[in-house]
Amino acid sequence: MIFRSNSLSDTGAAARSLAEVLRKRPRGRQAAVVSLIGDLGSGKTTFVKQLAAALGVRARVSSPTFLLLRSFKLRNPKFPFKKLYHLDAYRLKNKEELVALGFSKILSDPGNLVLIEWADRVKSALPKNGIRLDFYHGKGENERIIKINIKNGKRKTSSPD
Ligand SMILES: Nc1ncnc2c1ncn2[C@@H]1O[C@H](COP(=O)(O)OP(=O)(O)OP(=O)(O)O)[C@@H](O)[C@H]1O
Ligand SMILES: [Mg+2]
Repeated sequence: MIFRSNSLSDTGAAARSLAEVLRKRPRGRQAAVVSLIGDLGSGKTTFVKQLAAALGVRARVSSPTFLLLRSFKLRNPKFPFKKLYHLDAYRLKNKEELVALGFSKILSDPGNLVLIEWADRVKSALPKNGIRLDFYHGKGENERIIKINIKNGKRKTSSPD
C-alpha cells in the first residue's frame, strides 16, 4: 500500500489503514513488529502518534529519542495487543543496548506491538516477518510518501549491519 500524505490527517488515514491490517492479522507466536524507516523529519514519529491514537492510546506519544523506549497500555478489545512499545533506534550505539532494554523479552510476547523508528540500525536483532514502513519526503514541504509493506520486514538490497 502506498499513501501520499499532504497533512497530518492524511498521515492519520494511512495509520488507520495499518491499524485495520493489525486488527485482522492472525496473532503470531511472538510480538508484532513494525519497522519505520526513512530520513529525518519524514514522518515516522508522526505516524506512530496517529497509529497510537487509532489503537486507543490516550497518553501523549512524544518522540522517544531521549528515552529510547516507551510503552503504553492498550485496552482496546478490537486489537489483539496488550502493550504498545515505541523504540527509537537512532541513538542506539549497539545491539547490547537493546539487551539492556530487555528487548528480546519484549519481542517474545505475542501481546506486544513493537514500533521501531530507524529499525534498519538494528535489523539483525529483529524478526524477519515484521511489517516494514518506508517514509519519503515528497516534492512539497508537507508532502510525505508512506509505503506499507505487509509481507516482511526485509530490505530489498542486503547490506551488512
Ligand atoms: N504530511 C505530513 N505527514 C507527517 N508529518 C508532516 C507532514 N507534513 C509536515 N509534517 C511535519 O514533518 C515533521 C515530521 O516529523 P517526525 O518527527 O514525525 O519525523 P521523523 O521521521 O520521526 O523524524 P526523526 O528521524 O528525526 O525521528 C513534523 O514536524 C510534522 O508536523
Ligand atoms: Mg522520529
